Amino acid sequence: MDKNMLAKLAVKAAENAYAPYSGFKVGAALLAASGKIYTGCNIENASFSPTVCAERNAFFSAINAGERNFECIAVAGVKNGNISGICTPCGVCRQVMAEFCSENFLVLSVKNNEGTEFEEYTLSDLLPFSFGSDNFTE
Ligand code: THU
Repeated sequence: MDKNMLAKLAVKAAENAYAPYSGFKVGAALLAASGKIYTGCNIENASFSPTVCAERNAFFSAINAGERNFECIAVAGVKNGNISGICTPCGVCRQVMAEFCSENFLVLSVKNNEGTEFEEYTLSDLLPFSFGSDNFTE
């Protein structure tokens, strides 16, 4: 797995973000088990609640393309043209990840504009004791 390439693609994907309200442009690059990479950006809305995060847009593109198994996602959050701090996925996106990914799914939070530095987490680091279908099936 080329983590550096994923991080760079996440930075690039943020360029397409539609974020006129927050000014926070997020890009995500998701590596499926097939080897294909799906990107996403955040898309905001004047009515606010329809806003969708970069991570979910990447996941939903991949799922629409028939993917069901995933290895890693890189996430880059850009404010005023710069990545100054890490962007970790929101709670809703973590729950979407838990629907399709195992506990050792990797999340890379990009730390610089070049995409050469990132923090690395597993999904279980970010969403311990997660709720899933196991909680209500026998
Ligand atoms: N956002 C993402 O796209 N991903 C995250 O991980 C955190 C938040 C977006 C949603 C909204 O458009 C903007 O960032 C500010 O919350």
